[in-house]
Amino acid sequence: MASSPRRMPVQYIVGEWEFCDVTVSVRPPVLVPRPETERLALLAADRLRPLAAAGERSPRLLEVGCGSGVITLAVLHWLKQVSAVAVDPSEAACLLTEENAARLGVSERLHVHRAALTDAGLPCVEGQQFDMVVSNPPYVPTADLRRLQPEILLYEDRAALDGGRDGLALVRRLLRRSAGWLRPGGRLLLELGVGQPETVVALLSEPGTGLTRPQVHRDFTGRERFVEAQREQERGREE
Ligand SMILES: C[S@@+](CC[C@H](N)C(=O)[O-])C[C@H]1O[C@@H](n2cnc3c(N)ncnc32)[C@H](O)[C@@H]1O
Repeated sequence: MASSPRRMPVQYIVGEWEFCDVTVSVRPPVLVPRPETERLALLAADRLRPLAAAGERSPRLLEVGCGSGVITLAVLHWLKQVSAVAVDPSEAACLLTEENAARLGVSERLHVHRAALTDAGLPCVEGQQFDMVVSNPPYVPTADLRRLQPEILLYEDRAALDGGRDGLALVRRLLRRSAGWLRPGGRLLLELGVGQPETVVALLSEPGTGLTRPQVHRDFTGRERFVEAQREQERGREE
């Protein structure tokens, strides 16, 4: 058997990985798709399916921090009516997402932008409206990074993991910006670390996000790991 670099995650050695119903290429330093993220992709597809089935227009998905592209690509694979924009500041991530989209035959329904969500927003999507914003952002508090397994620290991009002082730096930007990208009634779906959903629900209850109806969802092991919220409906159009 050929020797492999020390402690390299098996997914990188194999070079491809299964996620939901799709097989994607994976390579360092782009984050290896985690099994718990499959729940996020399933939730995204569940929410978009009725819109896709209605057939009135093509539902639109925005993913912030696409990495290898797995979340968006699973949704595009399942729901042929959906189109998507995926952004990531990492060139390696953008190239991998484009490569994986071509592999799955969904490139025509996906635009990939190399861009970071900053306090100034995300200029590449300005003026566009989406039915859903999905993100598995970096959410590990900086001080906890050193406790991660060596495999992760040696091979995976620190920017894919480091969520700042309390892990929620990018999440706060997402909470501030998402309502501006969403159609009324559109949804934000986030993956978070253990213990973070409660804080994010509290942040959502503060005035000014334009988001409402927070819901927490559990992963396959029963831990609260996902938060969903909806853009407020226009006045008089509450469901
Ligand atoms: C936890 S990884 C998730 C990757 C992929 N979506 C998945 O679930 O496997 C977070 C991703 O967010 C990207 N990212 C980091 N900072 C960002 C920012 N300011 N704006 C947008 N994406 C960012 C990273 O490059 C990384 O690819």
